[in-house]
Amino acid sequence: MIYDVVVVGGGIAGLMAAIEAKSSTNRVAIITKGNLFKSNSSLASGGINSVLDPYDYVEIRKHINDTFTSAAGLGDKKSIEHMCKQAPRIIKKLVSFGVEFDKDDNGVIVQRSFGGGSAKRTCYVGDKTGAAITQALIKHAKSLGVQFLVNNFIMNLALHHSKVSGVISLRRFDSSVVVYPAKAVILAGGGYAGIYRGFSTNAVDYTGDLLAVALRAGLRLQDMEFVQFHPTGFAKSNNLVSEAARGEGGYLVNDEGKRFVDELERRDIVSRAIAEQIENGKKVFIDLRHLGKELIEKKLPSLYKNAFLQAGIDLSEELLPIKPVAHYTMGGIEASNGVNTDIKGLFVCGECAANGVHGANRLGGNSLLEGAVFGELAGIRALAYSRAKDFYPIDYSKVIKDIELVDKIFDKDTSKNFNAMRISLGNMMFSNVGIKRTQEGLEKAYDYISYLRSEVPTLHCIGKERTNNVELVSILELRNVTEIAEAVILSALKREESRGAHFRVDHEETNPKYAESIVVQELKKGILRVFFKEHKLLYKIRKIFNAKTN
Ligand code: SIN
Repeated sequence: MIYDVVVVGGGIAGLMAAIEAKSSTNRVAIITKGNLFKSNSSLASGGINSVLDPYDYVEIRKHINDTFTSAAGLGDKKSIEHMCKQAPRIIKKLVSFGVEFDKDDNGVIVQRSFGGGSAKRTCYVGDKTGAAITQALIKHAKSLGVQFLVNNFIMNLALHHSKVSGVISLRRFDSSVVVYPAKAVILAGGGYAGIYRGFSTNAVDYTGDLLAVALRAGLRLQDMEFVQFHPTGFAKSNNLVSEAARGEGGYLVNDEGKRFVDELERRDIVSRAIAEQIENGKKVFIDLRHLGKELIEKKLPSLYKNAFLQAGIDLSEELLPIKPVAHYTMGGIEASNGVNTDIKGLFVCGECAANGVHGANRLGGNSLLEGAVFGELAGIRALAYSRAKDFYPIDYSKVIKDIELVDKIFDKDTSKNFNAMRISLGNMMFSNVGIKRTQEGLEKAYDYISYLRSEVPTLHCIGKERTNNVELVSILELRNVTEIAEAVILSALKREESRGAHFRVDHEETNPKYAESIVVQELKKGILRVFFKEHKLLYKIRKIFNAKTN
């Protein structure tokens, strides 16, 4: 099957993109690696930021300023202004697609506080906002005729010179490598916090696959060192305790019953404060008892239920142990003008993209907004591009290489345990590339990753069954994970300062000299170059030069 537009990723950004790219006559598909209902967007429970009145310029300006301040010198003003100004319209659009935000007795959408915000501007559906939004969007996309191709693992982009001509995918059902030709492709496949396996709110398959695909296609990754640690994960399971809990007035207390931080500070500040308590041998809890059972059940029903089911804790009477966990990654595929890339016909949006909206640190509640606003924009651009262009040829020599890779993984035997490698990689990343970093720790992590990168080509499936072989996907993911982890570590080593979510114990100050993004490029297979991004003018000249030589 061929498509006018292929969207990779089924979270809020991908769904908005597909809806916008669909016309009454064209063919649009959403491709997902796994379960459509388990995207990070659907787990983002606390809410979506927006000023509701589009003419309230003062409040919109405050939203812009909060977002810009949180980005710690690396925010892109144009992208931030675009997002915050579009927000009131986007909320209306989501309502028109069937999202039922919580309202007061007068039928007005209610809003809660989120950390780092100077006003209450987070709209919500109880504490399952992301799930409510994605379900409404899936329904709407289906009603428009968007096709859903689930259980497809994207191996590479199909390119014709510097133009996209489709995607090369592993069909998980039968392990066959297939091509989906497309005039335009949108990458919206989420971030890489899942590489912190065992210490992340993300599903384990959030392995930064599309970032690795982009790197292999010659694109650059930006801001990779900035990993957001959410202050509150369940201490045992890592599942998210939504910021809504603090937004509704919950406290953070240690085992002496003392509050030790302003709960509505930015996530990096709260996470570091908790980490310090834990370093000093204390336990940390979320305390909702003073809110009363009625409010907890009304505003935080999922959390109330999950605390009971997962930890046997009644939040109206007991404290819930928590710890900070990797939650969101600000780094991504370098985007210009919001969603464009250096490959013609290829657009990026959502967590896998770096468009400068979050810079060094994202505000809670801005991820669903960014996904919706830039997903919509990517869909509009992809539709216009696909209308103006024809299909470009598929380079089948690249497809054959991917078929050979899959065959090689099946053909030989191994005694190596790649699952154990993924787990130890998660441990190593959290310990050495976590909330607090040092040169020594980062170098240790780099050595470990170099070792793992040399091991990956020697990994093979133990089970040779080609139907739904989970080992095959795990090995391909590990290949991507090691590349992405290396990009994170090298960027973190290069940034010899503390900024936003990146905290270097050996360089605690923010250094104005480093007020620029770091980008990562693959020079040749497996060799990464990491450098501070050139000035905007130089970047433009490079793009013009590239366009002329292609
Ligand atoms: C949360 O509910 O705490 C997650 C939402 C977000 O990360 O924006």
